[in-house]
Amino acid sequence: MRLLIQIIAIAMLTTLAAGSAGGQEANYSREGADTCLSCHEDEVTLALFRGAHAVPTDPNGPFGHGQLQCEACHGPGGDHAARVRRGQERPPITVRFGADSATSVEMQNDACLGCHTPDMGFGWHGNDHDMNEVACADCHTSHAASDPVLATATQPEVCFDCHQQQRTQMLKPYAHPVRQGKMDCSGCHSPHGATSEWQFARQTLNQTCFDCHAEKRGPYLWEHAPVAEDCGNCHDPHGSNYPGMLSMRGPMLCQSCHSQEGHPSVPASSDGLPSGTPSGFMLGQNCMNCHSQVHGSNHPSGSRLMR
Ligand code: HEC
Ligand code: HEC
Ligand code: HEC
Ligand code: HEC
Ligand code: HEC
Ligand code: HEC
Ligand code: HEC
Ligand code: HEC
Ligand code: HEC
Ligand code: HEC
Repeated sequence: MRLLIQIIAIAMLTTLAAGSAGGQEANYSREGADTCLSCHEDEVTLALFRGAHAVPTDPNGPFGHGQLQCEACHGPGGDHAARVRRGQERPPITVRFGADSATSVEMQNDACLGCHTPDMGFGWHGNDHDMNEVACADCHTSHAASDPVLATATQPEVCFDCHQQQRTQMLKPYAHPVRQGKMDCSGCHSPHGATSEWQFARQTLNQTCFDCHAEKRGPYLWEHAPVAEDCGNCHDPHGSNYPGMLSMRGPMLCQSCHSQEGHPSVPASSDGLPSGTPSGFMLGQNCMNCHSQVHGSNHPSGSRLMR
């Protein structure tokens, strides 16, 4: 019923749209959406009317007063919509979206950028997605009541389509709660591009983490240098096989930077073993049993990150 009302509203606006659209160079259809819908009335096409783009009262939307309706995105469709003689081929629509489209990605994206340049920030042009010819429509679905890439629970699936490696990592036993639908990729990334590397949502990797893990920001009286430098020194934020999303198991992780010589791997004599024998305490268990404040310490005598 709502759909019907919308279509009637569109019909009323159509004459105006066609009037202002009928420029000399570009051949727009005579009756806008009505023309298109006379042939395209399948469910997918009609789903557009349940989405954000079909609001007739939005002056900036494709269906706002005097706008070009379908052709605001698909480009002038007059030739495409015209009657064709038998045996003659129908000229293709000016802008067709999607991976198997003959329309260049640049032209597809320009159709959207005509209205959305202000939403894109500085990052888009030249970012990894733009440079690799990823189209707006590769991530965004326009003919739908709601666009899956904008909802936390459905966004990752859109990204996994191209980023298979991250799909695998997210399935590991210790990962951010993305597969549970509680977090999405744009919690950490700005897929429209950013001034940082890896398209981080914030200026640096660490600042991105602090958005949600503010308590790790410090400042600490006693910093642990690799923490201040890069959380990725010890964590795999896409997922890992080790508790705490660590990139390696406890002692190995620490020993990838800290020498096994001297302290603490070879203590004088803890558990009654002869001096020089590696302590079971050190080998079998974790450095964090004693150095519990790996992210930094604020205790006056916490220089060894033990309290
Ligand atoms: C007279 C019927 C007719 C009208 C009017 C018409 N189309 Fe089409 N359109 C077709 C046909 C048939 C195809 C499939 C062409 C093909 O397969 O080569 C098509 C294909 C398309 C496609 C590409 C999808 C595909 O499967 O190839 C788009 C997008 C499209 N039309 C949009 C529009 C828009 C926008 C309008 C209005 C400006 C419009 N059409 C008007 C008949 C029509
Ligand atoms: C005629 C102008 C116009 C064109 C062309 C246009 N949009 Fe929009 N778009 C709007 C308006 C207006 C809104 C609703 C207001 C807003 O959210 O800014 C909107 C909303 C959106 C939203 C938010 C949707 C939501 O559900 O909240 C997305 C995403 C979007 N557009 C993507 C696109 C893409 C991708 C294209 C190209 C295929 C495109 N737009 C073409 C004007 C346009
Ligand atoms: C790699 C996937 C991807 C591509 C490519 C992409 N977007 Fe988006 N877009 C997103 C995501 C994810 C969001 C939601 C951002 C968020 O949650 O912070 C979004 C949000 C939006 C919004 C809504 C912004 C708002 O503030 O509500 C608009 C409009 C939009 N995109 C338009 C475009 C246009 C136009 C293009 C092409 C020039 C494009 N997008 C390309 C993933 C993408
Ligand atoms: C906001 C931009 C926008 C508007 C307005 C719009 N479309 Fe589309 N259209 C798209 C995009 C993007 C796709 C690719 C699939 C998707 O995102 O849902 C598409 C896909 C299609 C397809 C399927 C083509 C294919 O390649 O399989 C048809 C047919 C179509 N549109 C017709 C229309 C008609 C008819 C109207 C007007 C009633 C219209 N579109 C309005 C952006 C738009
Ligand atoms: C908790 C933060 C976080 C979340 C959530 C996140 N990422 Fe990342 N992503 C990172 C960090 C940090 C890097 C930097 C390099 C690395 O550690 O792999 C990165 C790098 C990447 C890269 C570049 C990797 C490369 O080696 O070229 C891609 C692609 C990527 N992420 C995609 C995704 C996708 C898709 C999602 C959602 C399923 C996602 N990310 C969710 C933090 C995150
Ligand atoms: C149509 C395919 C496609 C989709 C969909 C897609 N990407 Fe990408 N993405 C790419 C390509 C291609 C690159 C550049 C090459 C690479 O690093 O793999 C890239 C690169 C990236 C990078 C690395 C940027 C850098 O600076 O190294 C991140 C992060 C990323 N994408 C996140 C996302 C997120 C988040 C989504 C979903 C919202 C998404 N992508 C959807 C194709 C895609
Ligand atoms: C958008 C919010 C958000 C961002 C940004 C974020 N995280 Fe998280 N992080 C979470 C949530 C939610 C959890 C799960 C907490 C829980 O399960 O109690 C979590 C858990 C963790 C855990 C603990 C895992 C465990 O098994 O105990 C680590 C480690 C972690 N994040 C590291 C990072 C790093 C490193 C970054 C930056 C690259 C980052 N996070 C960015 C939200 C975020
Ligand atoms: C020197 C290695 C190292 C660095 C660098 C590091 N962490 Fe950790 N992180 C750990 C260890 C070890 C654990 C404990 C894992 C466990 O509980 O098994 C941990 C646990 C966590 C946890 C979950 C438990 C808790 O304490 O809340 C979060 C969240 C976390 N780290 C976030 C971060 C953030 C954010 C950064 C960057 C500012 C960072 N880590 C840098 C080693 C590190
Ligand atoms: C990426 C390399 C790296 C990793 C991994 C790492 N550290 Fe460190 N750690 C450092 C650096 C660099 C310093 C600063 C050394 C200095 O200032 O002389 C440091 C300092 C320390 C200190 C204080 C030393 C002092 O002289 O006061 C302790 C204790 C420590 N680390 C324990 C650990 C533990 C426990 C782990 C495993 C959870 C670990 N570290 C993992 C690089 C690392
Ligand atoms: C049984 C408790 C204990 C365990 C387990 C332990 N440490 Fe320590 N560690 C200490 C004590 C006590 C000191 C202080 C020694 C000093 O001040 O002379 C220390 C000092 C350090 C220092 C400072 C530099 C130095 O040599 O004095 C580093 C680095 C360090 N430990 C790394 C590690 C690493 C890496 C592990 C795991 C392989 C580990 N510790 C396991 C008790 C422990």
